[in-house]
Parts: sequence; structure tokens; C-alpha cells
Amino acid sequence: MKKILVTVKLLKSNEERISKMWNTKVNNSNKIYSQKELIKLSYDCDGILSSIVDKIDKKTINGLSDSVKIISNFAVGFGNIDIEAAKKRNIIVTNTPDVLTDATAEIAMLLILGASRRAVEGMKWVRKKNWKWSADFLMGKQLSGSRLGILGMGRIGRAVAKRAKAFGMEIHYHNRSKLDNTLEAGAIYHKNIQSLFSISDILSINCPATKSTNKIINKKTLGFFPDGAIITNSARGDMIDDDAMVDALNSKKIFSLGLDVYNGEPDIHPGYLKLSNVFILPHLGSATKKTRTDMANLAIDNIEEFFKTGNCINKVN
Ligand code: DGY
Repeated sequence: MKKILVTVKLLKSNEERISKMWNTKVNNSNKIYSQKELIKLSYDCDGILSSIVDKIDKKTINGLSDSVKIISNFAVGFGNIDIEAAKKRNIIVTNTPDVLTDATAEIAMLLILGASRRAVEGMKWVRKKNWKWSADFLMGKQLSGSRLGILGMGRIGRAVAKRAKAFGMEIHYHNRSKLDNTLEAGAIYHKNIQSLFSISDILSINCPATKSTNKIINKKTLGFFPDGAIITNSARGDMIDDDAMVDALNSKKIFSLGLDVYNGEPDIHPGYLKLSNVFILPHLGSATKKTRTDMANLAIDNIEEFFKTGNCINKVN
């Protein structure tokens, strides 16, 4: 029987399913395995079911047991794994696209709403109990009639576009290439980020973390935005230069920020914590029971497909 190292605790139904399929070594604690532990525990395993909290870098990949042939990441993003190093060792890496699209787009909308309607300040006032209604109390920015820029019009970007349209927003986007009319669904394409950012009343970041998107929001590109723009990020922290963003929030160049993801999470740039125009969540994009169950099932399916066919539709390397 094949042996699988499962690096994080799964939901009960997923746990039951995988333990019936293979001999599993499950992490039943809430502790994240160190790289040394991952290497040690991989001994004798045919595959690893990993999650975004596992830092599977080149050194870790090179130290894994020769028996490991697949790393099935329990996430659509796979920036936590050095996929090239894995390829060199003939280890396939897979992800879990599609199943988390709706849940993540919902969180993207929450970030847009929370940041634009000053939810953080509002909640603080309610808790202080000394607020009173007035015509100009905590005025935010209205979504209807405003322009939403979407950076990365993949599955999640398009799902955000669909929802934002229902709020009466005009949709603009930048992507490596222009989408066909059906996928575009009326959204306006911008060839470069300067063009997109300069018309974005609100920007939603939905692109993958790659070398070319690393710190794509920086001192220079923040200058492209209209004064008082809003930025939200439900993709990965890597896309934002935090120092530059904190400066832009302090100077009010950027009206507010909505974040679900962070550079070096769970750490967060201390500048954000001091600001009340930052709406922050602890990486909840896919955190619903349905989505997390579907994601783990897909991660299991990916391993099963690989063992049966030697390949996998969700292979990323
Ligand atoms: C993903 O799947 O990449 C999500 O960010 C995990 O919640």
C-alpha cells in the first residue's frame, strides 16, 4: 500500500477518506513541520499532501526521500514549493484550482466593501459606544458607478468581476493577454499596469505570485493610481511592497487597503496595524467548510490520478 505524508490536519471527512485509501502519516497537531521534520518524515513515503504553510524550498526538496514522487498542495497557489527543484528530482507538484474560486471571490468582495465603507473605523466607533449619526459621519466610497481594476483575470479575477458587476461597478483588467469576448464579459482590457492603475478607483489583486508580479505594487506604481484609490489583495502578500504601501496610506494617496494575505504571514507589517483605514483578515479566502472539503478532496484525487496514470491534470511543474 502507498504511503502518504499529510502535513496538516484535514477536516474529518477528508481525513477518513484518505486514511482508507492509503497508509497515512498524518500531522494531528496544529504545529507546522519544520523543513528538517518534513525531510525526516518523508522517509518511505510515496507522496506528500502539503499546504501553504509548508515551506518546501529547494533544500527541502533535495533532502526528501527518493520514494516521494508527488507533492499535492492543498491550495490553488503553490508559491510555497520550489516547483523547478521538484521537477529536477522528478517529483510532480499539483494544486487545487476551481473549487475555491467562489469562496475566494466572496472574500475579495468583502475586502472591497470593508475597505471602501470604512468598516474598521465603524466597528471601533460602535465598540466605543459614543458615536452618533450625522450627515458626514464616516463617509466611505460608493461602489456603484466606480471603476474596478482587476489585476489577473483568471478564474478568481473573473468571479470577482461577475460579483462587482452586480454592484454596478465598471470592470477593467490587466492580464498577460487579452481574454476572448466570452471570458471578458464586457470588461475593458488594459495592455499594461500603468494604464489599468491610472483608472482604478479600486484595484483587486487576483494574480498569481511569480517573479514578474513580485512587489508589482511599489512606490513607483502607487504613483499611477488616482488620488484616494482603494487597493485590495486576496491573492498573495508578495505582490505588495509594504513600506511603500504604508507610506501611501499615511499620505492618503491611497484611501484604504483591504488585505487577506501578507508577506511572511502570519506576520504582518507593523505599519498596517497602526492604521484604521486597513481592513485585514487572516487568510480566509477559501475558509468555508464546503470549499476546504472540496479542496482536500481534489488534493486526494490528484494523488490518486497520479498513482493510476503517472500524470495529473492539475500538475503545475
Ligand atoms: C490557496 O488555495 O492558494 C489559498 O490561498 C489557500 O487558502
